[in-house]
Amino acid sequence: LHPQLADARGRIKRKLRLSLTDRCNFRCHYCMPEHPKWLPKPEILDRAEMLQLVRLFVTELGMRELRLTGGEPLLRKDVVELVADFDTLRTEGLERIAMTSNASRLVQLAQPLADAGLDDLNISIDAIRADRFRELTRADIGPVLAGIDAARAAGIPVKLNCVAIRDYNDDELLPLARWAMEQDLPLRFIEFMPLDGRGDWRAERVIGEAEILERLARQHHIERLPRTNEPATYYRLDDRHSIGIISTVTNPFCTSCDRVRLSSTGGLYNCLFSPTALDLREPLRAGADAAAMLASIRGHVWNKEAGYAEKPGYVERPITMHHLGG
Ligand code: GTP
Ligand code: 5AD
Ligand code: SF4
Repeated sequence: LHPQLADARGRIKRKLRLSLTDRCNFRCHYCMPEHPKWLPKPEILDRAEMLQLVRLFVTELGMRELRLTGGEPLLRKDVVELVADFDTLRTEGLERIAMTSNASRLVQLAQPLADAGLDDLNISIDAIRADRFRELTRADIGPVLAGIDAARAAGIPVKLNCVAIRDYNDDELLPLARWAMEQDLPLRFIEFMPLDGRGDWRAERVIGEAEILERLARQHHIERLPRTNEPATYYRLDDRHSIGIISTVTNPFCTSCDRVRLSSTGGLYNCLFSPTALDLREPLRAGADAAAMLASIRGHVWNKEAGYAEKPGYVERPITMHHLGG
């Protein structure tokens, strides 16, 4: 049996987040720069390379959960085949294949993804009124709502993600909560992290957990639920609905961080806020032996920094959120 993948602070890793592509058909300000420059295709790992890396992380490094992210993962032409590939790793110990998506292509893809083995979906939605949604994303909400229905019809459990940002979508928070409740869909509000695509982040624009609760309490009865090992704290709304809050800014979960991230170009990032990565593409393409790659991965993860909790504030990074998938 292999030793667990751990860092020097005793945090054991069991979740791998893999970005399938940096491309996206939406233009949310907090994620994309005004004029995104897409990565050149040859730099992006192909299907066989992704499977090879994920297999290494599952079989040799003990990863148990895989979350596929982007950009928008559904823009990847071979996304269904990739999920089917990863599904074969269940016999090696993989327990969950999840995805975070904008839902815009789910009408066509939900059923094939369910058949290929996708376990669940987190869907980003920052406004519910059509005009506001278009302003924020430069895309139509119609296919997103239809995509959510298609996922549910295909039997894929869905959670909604909404990044709460002052002077951006704060007018949409209560309407979204009400709509989610009507649809019986769990919704999580996410505090705005200082990693946005345009350098627009300001501390004043973060709507923290306490303020979100205060706003919800104006129209709803809320009651805190016991914590799980998810990043969100959950609340019961009007005795019947679940609302989560991911308070990555006011209450970071770095001390129990169990994640590592792989970019679509094979960069291994220890933390969302890491300025640098360990490049795994070069050794992979050069046919390096697995033992050497494993040793360098273990060494890199061992040196994982404490995380955002230790150094709050804006972070300058060479890559933006759409390269790393949140
Ligand atoms: P589940 O808990 O498995 O449903 O997934 P998740 O919430 O980790 O994944 P998702 O992609 O839906 O992310 C929700 C929000 O949490 C996004 O804003 C992410 O950027 C943020 N997030 C996810 N993982 C981390 C992390 O390790 N650190 C920080 N600071 N934020 C994270
Ligand atoms: N702060 C908080 N959440 C963010 N996301 C993207 N950028 C940020 C940010 N700066 C969220 C997306 C998506 C998830 C993967 O990350 O909305 O739901
Ligand atoms: Fe983990 Fe970094 Fe997120 Fe903290 S900020 S929870 S260390 S990825």
